[in-house]
Amino acid sequence: MERQCVFIATFVLILHLVQAQDPTGFINVDCGLPPRDSPYNAVPTGLAYTSDAHLVNSGKTGRIAKEFEPDYTKPILTLRYFPDGVRNCYNLKVIRDTNYLIKATFVYGNYDGLNVDPNFDLFLGPNLWTTMSTNDTIEELIHVTKSDSLQVCLVKTGISIPFINVLELRPLPKTAYVTQSGSLKYLFRRYLSSSDRTIRYPSDVYDRKWYPMFVENSWTQVMTTLNVNASNLYELPQDVMTTGVTPLNANATLNITWTLEPPTTKFYSYMHFAELETLRAKDTREFNMTLNGKQSFRPYSPKPLKTETIFDVTPEQCDGGACLLQLVKTLKSTLPPLLNAIEGFTVIDFPQMETNEDDVASIKNVQDTYGLSRISWQGDPCVPKQFLWDGLSCNNSDISTPPIITSLDLSASGLTGIITHAIQNLTHLQKLDLSNNNLTGEIPEFLADMKSLLIIDLSSNNLTGSVPPSLLQKKGMKLNVEGNPHILCTTGSCVNKGHKKKSIIVPVVASIASIAVLIGAFVLFLVLRKKKASKVEGPPPSYMQSSDGRSPRSSEPAIMTKNKRFTYSEVMTMTNNFQRILGKGGFGIVYHGFVNGTEQVAVKILSQSSSQGYKQFKAEVELLLRVHHKNLVGLVGYCDEGENLALIYEYMTNGDLKEHMSGTRNRFVLNWRTRLNIVVESAQGLEYLHSGCKPPMVHRDVKTTNILLNEHFQAKLADFGLSRSFPIEGETHVSTVVAGTPGYLDPEYYRTNWLTEKSDVYSFGIVLLEIITNIPVIDQSREKPHIAEWVGLMLTRGDIKSIMDPSLNGDYDSGSVWKAVELAMSCLNPSSARRPTMSQVVMALNECVASENSRGGASRDMDSKSSIEVSLTFGTEVSPTAR
Ligand SMILES: *[C@@H]1O[C@H](CO)[C@@H](O)[C@H](O)[C@H]1NC(C)=O
Ligand SMILES: *[C@@H]1O[C@H](CO)[C@@H](O)[C@H](O)[C@H]1NC(C)=O
Ligand SMILES: *[C@@H]1O[C@H](CO)[C@@H](O)[C@H](O)[C@H]1NC(C)=O
Ligand SMILES: *[C@@H]1O[C@H](CO)[C@@H](O)[C@H](O)[C@H]1NC(C)=O
Ligand SMILES: *[C@@H]1O[C@H](CO)[C@@H](O)[C@H](O)[C@H]1NC(C)=O
Ligand SMILES: *[C@@H]1O[C@H](CO)[C@@H](O)[C@H](O)[C@H]1NC(C)=O
Ligand SMILES: *[C@@H]1O[C@H](CO)[C@@H](O)[C@H](O)[C@H]1NC(C)=O
Ligand SMILES: *[C@@H]1O[C@H](CO)[C@@H](O)[C@H](O)[C@H]1NC(C)=O
Ligand SMILES: *[C@@H]1O[C@H](CO)[C@@H](O)[C@H](O)[C@H]1NC(C)=O
Repeated sequence: MERQCVFIATFVLILHLVQAQDPTGFINVDCGLPPRDSPYNAVPTGLAYTSDAHLVNSGKTGRIAKEFEPDYTKPILTLRYFPDGVRNCYNLKVIRDTNYLIKATFVYGNYDGLNVDPNFDLFLGPNLWTTMSTNDTIEELIHVTKSDSLQVCLVKTGISIPFINVLELRPLPKTAYVTQSGSLKYLFRRYLSSSDRTIRYPSDVYDRKWYPMFVENSWTQVMTTLNVNASNLYELPQDVMTTGVTPLNANATLNITWTLEPPTTKFYSYMHFAELETLRAKDTREFNMTLNGKQSFRPYSPKPLKTETIFDVTPEQCDGGACLLQLVKTLKSTLPPLLNAIEGFTVIDFPQMETNEDDVASIKNVQDTYGLSRISWQGDPCVPKQFLWDGLSCNNSDISTPPIITSLDLSASGLTGIITHAIQNLTHLQKLDLSNNNLTGEIPEFLADMKSLLIIDLSSNNLTGSVPPSLLQKKGMKLNVEGNPHILCTTGSCVNKGHKKKSIIVPVVASIASIAVLIGAFVLFLVLRKKKASKVEGPPPSYMQSSDGRSPRSSEPAIMTKNKRFTYSEVMTMTNNFQRILGKGGFGIVYHGFVNGTEQVAVKILSQSSSQGYKQFKAEVELLLRVHHKNLVGLVGYCDEGENLALIYEYMTNGDLKEHMSGTRNRFVLNWRTRLNIVVESAQGLEYLHSGCKPPMVHRDVKTTNILLNEHFQAKLADFGLSRSFPIEGETHVSTVVAGTPGYLDPEYYRTNWLTEKSDVYSFGIVLLEIITNIPVIDQSREKPHIAEWVGLMLTRGDIKSIMDPSLNGDYDSGSVWKAVELAMSCLNPSSARRPTMSQVVMALNECVASENSRGGASRDMDSKSSIEVSLTFGTEVSPTAR
């Protein structure tokens, strides 16, 4: 009894019913068919076959020799052969997770006139399917697809050139021909009949090909003219089920034998039964089924005119590979055993997993985008290892997970166009080499978002724009942008001029976890860059010098490395509960505070009522993270906790220029040389925003209250909240909501809402007039309320002395002053096009400084007596000479 249960478990009877399936989903490929002849309807199936031209990138088309043509029909007559490359693949679009009957037909037919038998390998994806060594065969698999593409690859193993004539795919019901593991490789498929007809589509809805089988002198045929109900899962053709055999001797067993190679091969058998005879009342047909003597199913009686399928649930093996299936009449049976049809399959394991399908999709996308026609770029990108795509590396260490692409080398591949977004989906990429191509456009930000990607070589291309700061800030990133003549750095800190041939790999050490640490790393980066730059021969680009921090007065690194994100409670602590107000800005109140108990900071709390508050805040943080210059106020940290937004800047001990000009700060009057130095430094900061950054940035709110002075009276521009980067390369303006401070506002910008860097130049001109005249920018009581109009009026009257700040007591070089006035007026030209650039302004101001310095030492003594602070800073050294 126990035994019987085991037997019963091995074979299963199928009564399951399904609807006949329409041949939709059939894939019929006539390999080597000229596209102009495609599609056509093949005889006798009537199925439409199409050319393979769009499914394979390589190979040549051929046709079997004339002498063979009478033996074959389309689609077998033409073929495709692959003289080039080792592995050539068909890439078929299939339905994922579908049970497919896959057939590949190979008929040599002396197509090449060489008359040698073929010998090559056939792969399904990364796995060996079979070795082809006969000149006329159909290979068939029943296989469940794991993705929506299927690769059928032909692999050269010697001198024999692989070829293929036909590729056919037929979807089967998911529950038919199920295996425990692996796929089913065709062994035989027979219907038991003395006919010589093969049966396939349309008789067989799944286009299985049935060959007849009959053993003379030991079998006798049974037939019916009635219809057999064949509506079970396996949808057997009428022609198959209306015939069957029984042993000639009614007492004999019905024997079927086959051999397995190698002998340990596992197999599945499927037997299809239907009673075709009309049994008399006293008749019974009952039999046992045994395999090599072992019973494998309970006594069975076929159902009258109704198909039942009995198959193995678990794979079987036969001793020595010799199988004997016997249908043995039971004692109570009056009739011999009957069998209508039988199929046998061996189990084929496909252990190698296909490469991660997202990776495959992405790399194919990359291939398509750049029109890459590398012969090795066929089939699975990573596996098997010997067919790894040229230029790829993969992680294939874990057999149970799909291989992933870890590096992509497309150097010197003639790539044109932009860096494709398709790369983004190669999520495990660690290394990307796109060097020595003709790539254009900007370096995309997404590269920084690719977690594993830490080595990027973009050298020797024609890329433009800036290196995304996020990329520079990425921890462990090695980036090479050498040899891109049009690339610029937002940071002013990478060497990229095309003429410098020295390869520069920029190491950046930072933590992605906190933006604050990023800035620290950024400074480290600057320091490293500085070291690097000092080794580069010839003058570095101007924006590098202006940020080199070589001035002994520069204190940025000390402060900047402490940049970090603060909690609101830390902000409260550092400001001692917002005790000391430093000032009120456009977006909130600025408080005095301490970081680490000693380092003074200015904390700007963004008022929540400020309409643009959060946007503004983001803009400012982003900008400050991107720029670093000794003449721009540095960001120490920020707070972004719910509604509490704060920016923490380095503290500028000496307040703003306006306070010093108006005398509200202290009793000292800034002398002319100090004023000049302050505006030179401010101009440098502004110049950096305009030309050291690409895309350029417009400050939008240049004014004396935004020029801050540190303890050494070094000037730094503050309040970048209004700045906006120019979004698109080549665009010379951006249109935004007009913002700025009355009096400083560029009238052209105001009129046109057309923002350019020249708007800053205008505002800077106003600043220049202020340090010259020391009068309010707008004063309604004046003959001309606006400072520019008033100075213009004075100048037309030819009286330069009258416009000068009387508190300077005439202590200035008049040549220097005259130059400054001239410069200011050119900055205020109503037409922005005619205003100088900030670089020109810096140059002109340096001439003013030189002219002032050429004066004798008498006034210098006077300076030091009148202002200790000033002499401390500018006693001997004039800073901006390195230009
Ligand atoms: C296959 O090879 C055999 C023996 O060499 C030859 O007789 C037969 O014509 C060949 N068939 C094809 C289709 O090449
Ligand atoms: C075939 O048999 C099934 C039940 O086994 C039945 O539902 C179906 O109607 C039959 N078909 C025909 C044509 O008799
Ligand atoms: C089959 O066996 C039965 C009894 O075992 C016997 O009576 C009968 O004659 C046999 N038939 C043939 C055809 O050998
Ligand atoms: C079937 O196989 C058995 C066992 O090998 C053998 O004894 C018998 O003669 C065979 N019968 C036929 C009809 O071949
Ligand atoms: C057929 O199988 C049944 C139960 O599995 C068994 O009792 C019987 O002896 C078998 N008959 C033959 C002829 O092997
Ligand atoms: C490859 O992937 C495995 C996990 O599948 C990981 O443990 C291993 O570190 C990876 N190797 C490399 C070189 O990335
Ligand atoms: C990346 O993959 C996602 C989903 O896997 C897909 O939607 C997207 O189109 C892909 N992007 C590219 C550029 O291929
Ligand atoms: C880039 O394109 C130019 C002209 O189209 C060509 O001469 C040059 O060889 C290309 N460079 C690379 C690296 O492909
Ligand atoms: C590089 O791009 C610029 C425009 O950005 C173009 O003028 C130049 O011809 C390009 N150089 C090459 C070698 O393609």
